Amino acid sequence: MKCSEEEREYLRVLVQTHSANVMDPSRDYFLESRLRAVVRKMGLAGIRELIALLRHRPEGSLHRTVVEAMTINETSFFRDGFPFARMEENLIPRLIQARRPQRRLRFWSAACSSGQEAYSLAILLTEHFPELQDWDVRIFGTDLSQVMIERARAGVYSDLEVARGLPTTLRDRYAMHVGNGWNLLPEIRSMCSFTRLNLCAPLPLLPVFDGILLRNVMLYISAEDRAHLLRRMHRQLAPDGFLFLGCSEQLPPDMGIFEMRVEDNVYYYSPKI
Ligand SMILES: C[S@@+](CC[C@H](N)C(=O)[O-])C[C@H]1O[C@@H](n2cnc3c(N)ncnc32)[C@H](O)[C@@H]1O
Repeated sequence: MKCSEEEREYLRVLVQTHSANVMDPSRDYFLESRLRAVVRKMGLAGIRELIALLRHRPEGSLHRTVVEAMTINETSFFRDGFPFARMEENLIPRLIQARRPQRRLRFWSAACSSGQEAYSLAILLTEHFPELQDWDVRIFGTDLSQVMIERARAGVYSDLEVARGLPTTLRDRYAMHVGNGWNLLPEIRSMCSFTRLNLCAPLPLLPVFDGILLRNVMLYISAEDRAHLLRRMHRQLAPDGFLFLGCSEQLPPDMGIFEMRVEDNVYYYSPKI
């Protein structure tokens, strides 16, 4: 049975409170289809029974499961191409130059989904910058969804997921065929670590990053939460570091703490000093 408007509103508030994601009513079909999967998994009679349980239980893992089930996890290897081209051609060479004394680089794939973004960067660094082999290079991937974090940690992707963005030459060099798809090689997986983290809750102690990819997550969150989130990103970014947003995302107009840079028609941001 379908939920009532009042139940849908309860769910929208639950999702927004715990993830800052705004569930637009035009996405109600999505809300119900994702909930049906949770209902099936829990062996419940229907969505209304699930909502009744949510309302009567103290907030805990069931609420978290429901909130995480509402996230949109669309991603792919080398998504949009051009940010990776800019990193390869300009941004990483400049960082290597600047970090030569420390021989240390830190990157953050914030909202990493199932990990393809972090692994694309690991592959790019390995493929094009062999001198980094004996540097201390780490890529942190974080996401609200524990299910996605576990997928990212496993580093196993289906033929279809691999075909979406990973060229066969790189696939054959950096992944091995396993029963149901491709597993990235330990040399790539060991550059990345994945942790569940809500970007809109107070952040734990994190390193200062040389590059942050905050792509295709801001579009799901409210304007007010976006501004908070960007201020946090600013605090986590080295003065000469870079921030990429998704290609349909922009900084709010009053966000004067970042400077927009354009190189070969590609936009990225750096902290304003
Ligand atoms: C569309 S995916 C983007 C993945 C990747 N960055 C890309 O561009 O391909 C959005 C991801 O943001 C995550 N997300 C949504 N709200 C979040 C929050 N408050 N904190 C952390 N991650 C969040 C979702 O779980 C989802 O995996």
